[in-house]
Amino acid sequence: MMRFQDKSIIVTGAGSGIGRAAALQFAAEGGQVLCADKTDGAGATAAAIREAGGAAESLQIDAGSEEDVARAVALAVDRFGGLDVMFANAGISGGMANIFDTPVELIAEVLRVNLIGPFLAIKHAAPEIAKRGGGAIVLTASVAGIRSGAGSPAYSASKAGVINLAQVSAQQLSGSNVRVNAICPGLTETGMTKPTFDYAREAGKMDRVGRLNPLRRGAQPDELAKVALFLASEDASYVNGQAIAVDGGLSSSHPVTKQEYGRTAV
Ligand SMILES: NC(=O)c1ccc[n+]([C@@H]2O[C@H](COP(=O)([O-])OP(=O)(O)OC[C@H]3O[C@@H](n4cnc5c(N)ncnc54)[C@H](O)[C@@H]3O)[C@@H](O)[C@H]2O)c1
Repeated sequence: MMRFQDKSIIVTGAGSGIGRAAALQFAAEGGQVLCADKTDGAGATAAAIREAGGAAESLQIDAGSEEDVARAVALAVDRFGGLDVMFANAGISGGMANIFDTPVELIAEVLRVNLIGPFLAIKHAAPEIAKRGGGAIVLTASVAGIRSGAGSPAYSASKAGVINLAQVSAQQLSGSNVRVNAICPGLTETGMTKPTFDYAREAGKMDRVGRLNPLRRGAQPDELAKVALFLASEDASYVNGQAIAVDGGLSSSHPVTKQEYGRTAV
């Protein structure tokens, strides 16, 4: 099934993790992909797509810079003849500092990349996608944006903003046939979480990674990318303004102690 045959697609944060996995999947389904990242990982992902016989360009951008985002949209339009899909996925964790140890400069940078980045992606991509008669924008939020407990205050607030941005922009794009949705990943093995996974592997504690969700494991980037592709595709033609948790079930429960679980079904 080639859901993205000849579609023009931008993926930010395409140099690593979820963005790289999504770029490869989009291309495998016929999409022409502009791989954008602040690192030269963008070029490596585009090269991997071309080696596999797909169509890709790359651009080094700062996803939180309006000039750079506008440049990425212009390049996709120029090379691929328009724009159908924007996956605004680039993000930074900003570390784990609590409110009292977070300098304003740190929260400003996290908000700039994680929230202003997706805002700029919508602002510049939506008009081009609308010109094609419609399409989709997918944002990467996080379970940290749903409620507390999965990231620093700066990161969590930025991702809560992304969830709201999906809702507000879906409304503001009413009548354009441009859908906007977000994915909310749980713990996923990517560049961002490499230290956690590396430590657990080395210490023989992989059974503790993701143990709080009912699937009792972390995710792989491909599992997140598949949901992003679903939301970007016509399969999700009536899904709009939603934030979909892809977290093994983590956010489906309030915290409970082991005793309260009682017997499990199996
Ligand atoms: N890995 C997880 O457990 C997890 C959980 C929830 C949400 N997320 C979100 O998923 C998204 C993808 O992250 P990932 O987990 O694949 O991590 P990653 O570090 O592997 O990939 C993130 C990519 O974004 C790029 N990037 C960072 N800042 C940028 C900027 N200013 N401009 C352009 N590119 C920039 C990085 O260079 C990197 O290639 C992020 O928005 C992240 O917040 C990840």
